[in-house]
Amino acid sequence: MFDSLPVLPPDSILGLAAACRADPNPNKVDLTLGVYMDETGLCPVFEAVQQAQQALVNEEQTKVYMPPQGDPDYLAGIRALVLGEAGMARLGDRSSAVQTPGGCGAVRLGAEVLFAAAPDATVWVSDPTWPVHIPLMGSVGLHFKTYRYYSPELKGLDFAAMLADLDAASPGDVVLLHGCCHNPSGVDPTQEQWGELADLIAQRGLLPMVDFAYQGMGAGLDEDAAGIRALLERVPEMIIAVSSSKNIGLYRERAGAVLFVGGDARAAEAMASQAISAARRVYSMPPAHGALLAGRVLSSPELRSGWQAELAQICERINGLRGDFRDALTSATGRDFDFIGTEHGMFSFLGLSVEQAQRLREQQSVYILDSSRINVAGLNAHNLSRVVEAVASVL
Ligand SMILES: Cc1ncc(COP(=O)(O)O)c(C=O)c1O
Repeated sequence: MFDSLPVLPPDSILGLAAACRADPNPNKVDLTLGVYMDETGLCPVFEAVQQAQQALVNEEQTKVYMPPQGDPDYLAGIRALVLGEAGMARLGDRSSAVQTPGGCGAVRLGAEVLFAAAPDATVWVSDPTWPVHIPLMGSVGLHFKTYRYYSPELKGLDFAAMLADLDAASPGDVVLLHGCCHNPSGVDPTQEQWGELADLIAQRGLLPMVDFAYQGMGAGLDEDAAGIRALLERVPEMIIAVSSSKNIGLYRERAGAVLFVGGDARAAEAMASQAISAARRVYSMPPAHGALLAGRVLSSPELRSGWQAELAQICERINGLRGDFRDALTSATGRDFDFIGTEHGMFSFLGLSVEQAQRLREQQSVYILDSSRINVAGLNAHNLSRVVEAVASVL
């Protein structure tokens, strides 16, 4: 049966990370993967998570299945984090939540619910978007159109073009938005633009689905949720896919949640029930460990404040690196790299051609994607000047 089954190539980003690992150059730098790295190049475990883990190991008495909807402490914590006090109060019982295997699981279950409700719906995705969105949601059966978003000429958001494209969407179409820290561009709408966007989405009768994988890594926990909260004030229905991989550092534990906002309590319950049923068809129950840890961190005042302080430091470090990198690149090349300082989160397009990105990898052992997307958090005091020299040399 499998004699002629094709062997598929590895995912392109993972393939570049593997090429970097195989590179014998001791001064190589990997800026490809979307993983936070500290000054030593390590993706660290949050102190608060370590404490929660110790307590969990001491207290855990069973490995019986999780409830299909997930861990109640985790879901309550995530809802409060994303929707905020005011959002929770406004929505009352019009919102529901289901725990998922990471943010990917959340996007997937959100897509399953969309497909169950409106199999012919068109999903509008930003150009560009995170490359996994299309296979993750498309394999459910949904179809896509793109709206203009990042402009290489402006080195930023082409907001007028974005609004013009979404103005042409039909009522009932879905708009996939990145809640903050847009991947791959790092370019987010301003608070004012979020308001305009929310007005347009409400007027055109579109359904926002927000991928929210980096809360707290752009400007702060509440600041990064401002776009979602602007939407919540204006639209009756919404789907939000949350990941705890980056902001609680639980990558391999696969912790995430999909939040649903319905027109009434029955609709919110129906959406959650459809998500649980879709999960049952594929993997049954959500994984326990990461969500139990995050549930403890979010529900214990002491662990929570420790986690928030650690996350704020990470956010500050990324923004500090952005400033240092911008300044060093500007003085090494005489070109304008101001955009690096105004973007949010871990990602940025350096504005190099595919050929320049390849030369950077092959001649300088500095690994970036062909699109010239870099992970700013892969920079540190040790490698920053080397990366700057390498970029200057290929420009
Ligand atoms: C935009 C975006 N959405 C969702 C995810 C999903 O993350 P995970 O499934 O690892 O929680 C990621 C991870 O890189 C991402 O960048």
